[in-house]
Amino acid sequence: MTLVDLHSHILPGVDDGSPDMNHSLVLAKAAVDDGVTHMLLTPHHMDGKYTNHKKDIIRKTEEFQQALIENDISLKVFPGQEVHLSDKLLEAIDDDDILFADEGCRYLMLELPHTHVPEYFMKNIFPELRNREIIPVIVHPERNQGIQRNPNLLYEMIKNGCLTQLTASSYLGIFGEKVTEFTQKIISSNLGYTFSSDAHNLKGRKTRMTSAYVKLGKFNERLSKNYQENAKLILNGEDVVQKNVKKIKKQSFLFNMFHKDK
Ligand SMILES: [Fe+2]
Repeated sequence: MTLVDLHSHILPGVDDGSPDMNHSLVLAKAAVDDGVTHMLLTPHHMDGKYTNHKKDIIRKTEEFQQALIENDISLKVFPGQEVHLSDKLLEAIDDDDILFADEGCRYLMLELPHTHVPEYFMKNIFPELRNREIIPVIVHPERNQGIQRNPNLLYEMIKNGCLTQLTASSYLGIFGEKVTEFTQKIISSNLGYTFSSDAHNLKGRKTRMTSAYVKLGKFNERLSKNYQENAKLILNGEDVVQKNVKKIKKQSFLFNMFHKDK
């Protein structure tokens, strides 16, 4: 049984996730207990606060893997980055300072600004990424305020070839009921592709992957298996099949600031 987690902050001392090796080992053990077998380590990169260069992450991931082996924790880890959208992104790719989810540099774990979806992403960066046959995997779209206000933005992204990674905790209510409901709408509209943990710590933000897949399995068993398979395909750089995407109906959108007045 393989369970792949494509988004985590358990590499020690690199961002707002695990502060040191001891914490990282505890987090890794908790992830294994949660069923995770393979984990992409995705420290924040280029988000205005954290810069985690490719070569440093590769070295630190090797050190962490060694520590996992020495501590008998059977978790296979891979170097990655949660790359924040920036007008310097293409330059960073040209400078070979970006880590993709797969070794073939096809899938990019991309974080949009929390508050909105910048126009320059859809108009400039995204088309250029597609020219280069790079597929952005938009991380936690369910928590992006721009997408919450206008879910059509997500529909357009997916229609044009993006994938998405929903956060297991979002589906399980850790970020509140509205985020859970919106996550379900994304899933029901075929705009979701896989779950990841975005694990940061053992309190609010641990892995919870198995619970999310069990919950999804109750909604749609085939889809739950599909999501798990997609994570493997992304990690291996293989084709992920686009589904029959649907628009999320705006009138049912719960984040609309005028919602209470309707
Ligand atoms: Fe993250």
